[in-house]
Amino acid sequence: MLQQKVLALLEQRRGELITGGEIARRLGVSRTAVWKAVNRLREDGSEIESVRNSGYRLLDSSDGLSEPAIRAGLTARSMGGQIELRKAIPSTNQYLKAQDTAVLPEGYTVIADEQTGGRGRMGRPFYSPARQGLYLSVLLKPTIALNETPFLTICAAVAVCNALETVCGIDAGIKWVNDIFCGGKKLCGILTEAFVSAEMQAVDYAIVGIGINTGDVAPEVAELATSVLAVTGQRGIRNRLAAEVLNQLDLMYIDFANGHKSTILAAYTGRLFILGKPVQVVQGSQTYPAVAEGLDENGALLVRRPDGTLQALRSGEIRLQEE
Ligand code: BTN
Repeated sequence: MLQQKVLALLEQRRGELITGGEIARRLGVSRTAVWKAVNRLREDGSEIESVRNSGYRLLDSSDGLSEPAIRAGLTARSMGGQIELRKAIPSTNQYLKAQDTAVLPEGYTVIADEQTGGRGRMGRPFYSPARQGLYLSVLLKPTIALNETPFLTICAAVAVCNALETVCGIDAGIKWVNDIFCGGKKLCGILTEAFVSAEMQAVDYAIVGIGINTGDVAPEVAELATSVLAVTGQRGIRNRLAAEVLNQLDLMYIDFANGHKSTILAAYTGRLFILGKPVQVVQGSQTYPAVAEGLDENGALLVRRPDGTLQALRSGEIRLQEE
C-alpha cells in the first residue's frame, strides 16, 4: 500500500524534511498521490508536518504503526516473519484465534492500533485505547506438554522487560506470572492462550498476547497503571518497541526450544520483585497469606504459608499486601 511506503520513507529519515518530488520519484507515483497518502496517514494518526516548498517531515512524537518501520528493527528468526497490522479490532488474541492457524507460520504476528474488547487474564478487560499502547499477539507452535505452557508467559515477560530496557531505558519488574510493573504501577499485561489437540493431549498452538501501555494513561486507571510516556516522557516508540519485543521473544523461544529452562528462569527470577515479600494468594474464591520464595524448575511460584508448608502455584494470582 502506498501509504505504508510513504510512511516507511519518512520513518527512515524521521525529523528530516523530504520533498514531495523525491518521495514521488522514489516510489514511482505522482506528487498528488503522495499528497493524498500523507493526508490519509494523518487521518490515521501519523504526525506529518508539511512545509511549503520544502516537503514533508515525520515528527519525533509521531507514533503511527508501520510494517516497514517495524521490519527495519527486526532481527528475529521466526517471530514477526509475517506481520498483520489492524486499525481497530476487538482483540488481537481473539482475531488470531479466528484465523486458520494451521496454515499460518509460527511467529505470525497481529498488531492493532486499538482494541475495542481487549482481554486480560481471568476474563478481565484490558483497556486498549487507540494509539496509546502496543497491542500485539504472536502465534507459536511449540512442541511442549500442556504443563509447560507457563513457560511461554515466562519467556514473553522476560522478552518484554528486555525490550523495554533496550528501546526505552526502562528497568521493569515482573509480578508473577504475567504482569510487568514500573514504579509500583502496571506497564504491561500478557495473556497466553494454549490450544490442545484432543488426541495427543499436547499443545497444538499457543497465542501470546502482549499489551504495553505506551501513551496517555486514562485518569480512571492512573492509580494502578503507568506507561512508557509516563515513565520516560518518550513518544513515538511503538514501531521500535514492537520489533524489539519480537526480537527478544525470538531469543527466549530459541533458548526454550533448546532446553535452556534454567537460563530463562534465572532471567525471570532476576526481575521478580515479589520475592521475600508477604503476599495474598488468590485461587478461585480462596485467599490466603504467604511469602513468595522463588520458582520451581517448571516455573511454578513457591510460596511459604504461615504454618510453614511450601506450596507450588501453577495458576491463580498473587496480590502484594499493599494492593
Ligand atoms: C492481563 O493484564 O491480564 C493481560 C493483558 C493482555 C493484553 C493483551 S493486548 C494484546 C492481546 N489481546 C488481548 O485481548 N489481550 C492481549
